[in-house]
Amino acid sequence: MSILEEKNQKVKLVRIDKSMFPVIIPLYQSWFNNRKIRRFLFTSTPKSKRRISQLLLKWCFDTNTAYFMILLPENGTFVGHAGLNIKGKEAEIGIVIGETKFWNKGIATSALNQLVTLAKKKFKLRKLTARIDKKNIASINLFKKAKFEMEKASSKEYVYWLDFPKQK
Ligand SMILES: CC(C)(COP(=O)(O)OP(=O)(O)OC[C@H]1O[C@@H](n2cnc3c(N)ncnc32)[C@H](O)[C@@H]1OP(=O)(O)O)[C@@H](O)C(=O)NCCC(=O)NCCS
Repeated sequence: MSILEEKNQKVKLVRIDKSMFPVIIPLYQSWFNNRKIRRFLFTSTPKSKRRISQLLLKWCFDTNTAYFMILLPENGTFVGHAGLNIKGKEAEIGIVIGETKFWNKGIATSALNQLVTLAKKKFKLRKLTARIDKKNIASINLFKKAKFEMEKASSKEYVYWLDFPKQK
């Protein structure tokens, strides 16, 4: 298990591991079936235990994905995930705070900051993107705060991006 802790962060990121499936699959199932969350996820997001398990297996073993559990450092509570879907030197970000009672407390901000550092320093990526539903004000605020800029817009979603110039 790789644990990535940055000082003074509200959360820690821990790589998803198959040994955790019995604990995390039921939580994913409740998150991915929660309407408040689901309305902002891709329609392809799985709902059943079997399909969630298949997706998590992909995240564990596919070298083009890197997904992390977001845990509260004080007691290890699993509150959400943040991950990268990597293509060459670029990646699309996925982030969900599944435990809605923890929304609007800076948890995603802390997780995203750590994920951006990882993308740059560990995975040596050059560009990150996030596809965000136009109605998802919290997510738009989240990515803007992390210095992402709007790249393009379609009728339903925005694409925000951040790049890491070579010299920095
Ligand atoms: C989007 C999401 C990840 C934000 O998580 P969070 O931990 O609540 O975010 P934070 O507390 O770090 O807040 C980030 C910013 O959004 C703002 N925000 C949070 N909830 C908000 C809300 N309901 N309405 C308006 N702004 C909101 C915060 O105020 C903060 O900006 P600020 O610091 O300038 O005030 C979370 O709401 C979520 O998981 N939603 C469902 C799944 C989803 O939409 N994923 C993203 C797909 S692109």
